Amino acid sequence: MSVAIVVDRLSYSYPSPVPGRDATWVLQEVSLSVEEGEFVSIMGPTGVGKTTLCLALNGIVPQSTGGRIKGEVHIYGLNTKLQPVADLAQLVGIVFQDAETQLFNMSVEAEIAFGLESLGKPAEEIAERVDWAMALVGMSGFKDRSPFQLSGGQKQRVAIASILAMTPKILVLDEPTANLDPLGKAEVFSVVRELRQKRGMTIIMIEHESEHIVEFSDRVIVLNNGRVELEGRPASIFSQVDHMRKIGLDVPQVSEMAHRHNQKYQTHFAFTQLDETYQALVSRLDGK
Ligand SMILES: Nc1ncnc2c1ncn2[C@@H]1O[C@H](COP(=O)(O)OP(=O)(O)OP(=O)(O)O)[C@@H](O)[C@H]1O
Ligand SMILES: [Mg+2]
Repeated sequence: MSVAIVVDRLSYSYPSPVPGRDATWVLQEVSLSVEEGEFVSIMGPTGVGKTTLCLALNGIVPQSTGGRIKGEVHIYGLNTKLQPVADLAQLVGIVFQDAETQLFNMSVEAEIAFGLESLGKPAEEIAERVDWAMALVGMSGFKDRSPFQLSGGQKQRVAIASILAMTPKILVLDEPTANLDPLGKAEVFSVVRELRQKRGMTIIMIEHESEHIVEFSDRVIVLNNGRVELEGRPASIFSQVDHMRKIGLDVPQVSEMAHRHNQKYQTHFAFTQLDETYQALVSRLDGK
């Protein structure tokens, strides 16, 4: 397997608002790596540096933001400090939570074609890629609609399509459903499911809801105060119920239940999903 992302002892601080005084480090000695095809979720309380870490993956941090940086980020071997952001954008596509502010074209088609046009791709290729991306997010037939007439979930799907049309190798989803109602959330997660299951894309998703993390993730990274505080498979992360609760993070209800059961009966359950919980408890009750 090839390594898609290597973050090596990355520390970063934004430019100081007070001249002559250094701002505090937002990221501190963050190290992680992601294999091609892996799905990694990042959790963490507000303001701990999750978005900053995403922006460091496509070079916006520090190339556009300035500030102080130590350590390095490599995307398929390319150093993000040295590679032009426009080149990195073709490797790493980032979708943010506020789709609304990302859409500014007159039609869905123009919106999705925008990035490709700015790369000077031939019209035929653009048309093909737009159709492909629209189908992937379940928005075929919406070509001529104004993005502003769409629901929140549809807007976010268009935002995802406009990134996918650039065929990045790595997709970063920064709280992609944070501003959506339950229907919109379900629409976006079904796109994520499709990308995960059928396309095997390398995906980094920042997300708070543990049930969604469990469904998709090979690995979970918990950031706290600019540092990687926990890292591991979902079952291992969500078995650390007290730790997660202490930093204010969600765990699946069945993980919480396993934790309570373990405390009362000295068992070693680490549930993340309903089915396995049910099976394990039935076996236990049956004395197997
Ligand atoms: N452009 C900027 N200039 C200066 N400071 C910034 C900038 N963007 C973010 N920060 C600060 O950096 C820290 C980390 O912010 P970041 O947005 O990366 O956190 P986050 O974990 O994504 O938070 P949230 O959960 O609210 O999305 C915060 O203290 C924030 O105020
Ligand atoms: Mg953020």
